[in-house]
Amino acid sequence: MDITIERIPEKDLRPLPDENSLGFGRYFTDHMFTMKWNEPDKWHGAAITPCRDLAISPAGMMLHYAQGIFEGLKAYYRGPDKFALFRHKDNIGRFNASARRLEMPTVHPAVFQQAMLELIKTDIRWIPRSPGSSLYIRPFMIATEPGLGVRVAKEYLFGIILSPVGAYFASGFKPSRIYVEEKMSRVPAGGLGDIKASANYAGSLPALQKAKNAGYDQVLWLDAKEHRFVEEVGAMNIFFACREKALFTPRLNGNILPGITRDSVLKLADSLGLAVIEAYFDINDIIGQIKGGEITEIFGSGTAAVIAPVGELYYQRKKYVLDNKKAGPVTEQLYDILVSMQYGKYPDLFGWVEEVKI
Ligand SMILES: Cc1ncc(COP(=O)(O)O)c(C=O)c1O
Repeated sequence: MDITIERIPEKDLRPLPDENSLGFGRYFTDHMFTMKWNEPDKWHGAAITPCRDLAISPAGMMLHYAQGIFEGLKAYYRGPDKFALFRHKDNIGRFNASARRLEMPTVHPAVFQQAMLELIKTDIRWIPRSPGSSLYIRPFMIATEPGLGVRVAKEYLFGIILSPVGAYFASGFKPSRIYVEEKMSRVPAGGLGDIKASANYAGSLPALQKAKNAGYDQVLWLDAKEHRFVEEVGAMNIFFACREKALFTPRLNGNILPGITRDSVLKLADSLGLAVIEAYFDINDIIGQIKGGEITEIFGSGTAAVIAPVGELYYQRKKYVLDNKKAGPVTEQLYDILVSMQYGKYPDLFGWVEEVKI
C-alpha cells in the first residue's frame, strides 16, 4: 500500500511532554494515519499527516448510530531506533472481528500493520523511555457517510493515533476498590460484549459514575440475564487466585471481551504450574470463597494496566477486603513476568514480542 507522508517540518515539531506526568491518554503525537473507504474505491487515500481535527458531516452516521470500533495496544522503547510490539497481530484480528460484527469493512492485516509501523516510525521520538511507560496505539474506524436512518453506512474512516502513556502503577501497586453492579449491565446477552464497539463504553458510564459517587474505582459487571455470573471488571478481564495453586477466570460467553492480556495470563499461569480454570462463577460463590479464605487474590487484566490488583469488593451493601488491600504473590509474579517480557527483560517464551528496527 502506498502511504502519502505529510511530515511536520523539524522546526515545528512540538516539545515532548514530561515523562513523569504523562498519565493515560492525555497527550497525542505529532502525526496520525488515516484512510477512507467507500463502495467503488474500497480503502484509499492512505496518509500520515499532522495529527489534526477530522472534518465530518454533522449527519455522519457514527455520530448518530454508533457504528464505530477501536483497539488499544502499546509500543515499548528498545533503543533510539528500535521498539517492540506485544501480540499486535491479535489486536488486528480482534479489530477485524469487531468490524465484521458491525457490518463495517475489514482492514487487511498487512495494510493495518504497515500503517501502524510507519506511523510509529514517523513519531518514534515520542516513545517514552522511563520504566513502565510506553506509546499507546489507538486504531479506530467510524462510519462517516452523511445520512439519517438506521442502515449500514457506505463510507468509513480508519485512523490510528498515538499517545505516550506513563506507568500505570508509577509508585507501586495500588489495589482498586470495586463496586459490584447488581442492576445495570455492561452489555445485553447477544449484544456487542465480545467486540470493542464504542457503544459498549458509553453504556457503561452510569454504573461507573454510580460506583465513583460511592467512593469506588470501578465496576464489577455481572451477566445481563440473571445478574449472578461474574463477567468483567471495568474495561478489564477478571481473575481470582486461590492461594498459589489455582487461577480462575470467567469463561468467554460471547458477552465478555476476549482480552489479549487475559489470554497471555492464562498461558503464562499454566506454564508456571498453576491450575487454570475457565468457568462460570456465581458472585455469591465468589463472596463465599473470599470469606472462607479460598480466594486470596483478585485482579483485572488489560493492555493499559497489564494487571491491576483488586483490594476490595462492595456487594449487597457489604465490603469484602482481600489480602489486606495489597497485591498478592500470584498477581505480582504474573505482572512482573508479563511486563518484563514486554520490555525485553524476560525471555519471550511464547513468541509474543516483535522487535521493530527503523
Ligand atoms: C471491556 C474490556 N474488557 C477487557 C479488556 C482487556 O483487553 P486487552 O487485554 O486485550 O487489553 C478491555 C481492553 O481492551 C476492555 O475494553
